[in-house]
Amino acid sequence: MNRLIVVSNRVNPPGGRGEQSVGGLAMALAAALREYSGIWFGWSGRTTPKFTGQLQVERVDGVTAATIDLEPADIDEYYNGYANKTLWPLFHYRLDITAYDRSFGEGYDRVNRRFAETLRPLIEPDDLVWIHDYHLIPMARELRRLGVKNRIGFFLHIPWPAHQLVVTLPRHRQLVQALFDYDLIGFQTAEYLQAFAEYVTSEAGGKQLDEAHLSAFGRTVRTQVFPIGIDAAEFAQIAKSPAARRTYDIMTAHTVFRQMIVGVDRLDYSKGLEERFIGFERFLAGNPDMRREVLMLQIAPLSREGVDTYQEIRSRLDALSGRINGEFADIDWNPVRYVNKNYRRDELAGVYRAARVGLVTPLRDGMNLVAKEYVAAQDPDDPGVLVLSRFAGAANQLKAALIVNPNSPEEIAEALKQALSMDQGERIRRWRTLYDSVRREDVSSWRDTFVGALADVPTPLAALAS
Ligand code: F6P
Repeated sequence: MNRLIVVSNRVNPPGGRGEQSVGGLAMALAAALREYSGIWFGWSGRTTPKFTGQLQVERVDGVTAATIDLEPADIDEYYNGYANKTLWPLFHYRLDITAYDRSFGEGYDRVNRRFAETLRPLIEPDDLVWIHDYHLIPMARELRRLGVKNRIGFFLHIPWPAHQLVVTLPRHRQLVQALFDYDLIGFQTAEYLQAFAEYVTSEAGGKQLDEAHLSAFGRTVRTQVFPIGIDAAEFAQIAKSPAARRTYDIMTAHTVFRQMIVGVDRLDYSKGLEERFIGFERFLAGNPDMRREVLMLQIAPLSREGVDTYQEIRSRLDALSGRINGEFADIDWNPVRYVNKNYRRDELAGVYRAARVGLVTPLRDGMNLVAKEYVAAQDPDDPGVLVLSRFAGAANQLKAALIVNPNSPEEIAEALKQALSMDQGERIRRWRTLYDSVRREDVSSWRDTFVGALADVPTPLAALAS
């Protein structure tokens, strides 16, 4: 079997099952890497006054992590700048807050070059190289410049937006051209792949050669949909662990005579948190008889605090949760419990299991693994109901959820009412269909289909270009 080199901006090697509190991408990559010998390379999350390219290597739970520190200008221009002030909002359809600044683009290219130069000596001839997410689109171009001939694949964890949005990006052509230095590009959904193909054919003068190949810029690339999943069996086990049970007991003790609605999201404007709070407020206002029987727990750990739009959403949510509690609270009940802390995965599993409703309503989301974790954590005999945004990639698979338009407070309020009143038989029927899909399309199948497709790409693909 070939060695696998995984590259992502953030590297979070696993520190033991259940004890991690990291995001979906990192958990998926850790689970993926355990099965392959190889390296996980990326940013350490730390700053150094001057970039040195000094590698820090550690081996944790079967995974070798090799990381580098970045200097302050890199973090400003690459991570906070081009990645999170330009690409992230644009790819989540927030043209209104997308910032274009030439220094961001320069920092983005510089860090991709630095990553490539540091990684280059670690690559052996038969290694498969798998690059992840919007931070690192030009990485293959930089590796090719350094003479790397290996198969290199790219997976985009976030949406690929409509062609009309991509063209608002200065140097959009250069960004897309960089993707043609890969051998395989993976997307979360057919919609994102179609949007990419549409850009290539209508803007870059490229051609759709067959269902799986696009050619442009004198190169051919294979493209495919690989919906990311979770380690469903492991998460279902974690939900029965002592820590999860303890959290479950605490949550149920705190919610006696009440049903809990739970949301768990990084504090990010793409997650639809304001709209969700307003939907819940609408539910409370429209259903006085059910009002005191519910409470909403929103867990929203702080994220990307160096970016102003993230500071702004934080203040708006503080105000909104205060307003709802101010309007509806009673001496023994606060309708909204809003916490900005990060929790361990086993604790979260207990919270999910104790919640009658999982409310996952992003305005745009590549996939959304919280929706899948909520499903995996449920008690098969008494499961909760998933309310899911139609704009999460997960909605393509989790069709037995209550699917809502997250922009509509009325739809959120109606779905909450339906979920809270749903009888046990219907909850079980829906949950079985959901869990079946979460288990079938899990993280191993995502990893194996991607790595299999990458290993199968004939090299050099460029020869196929017409
Ligand atoms: O899944 C999208 C993503 O941007 C990942 O690439 C990233 O690791 C995760 O969200 C959390 O974001 P950040 O690394 O900026 O904290």
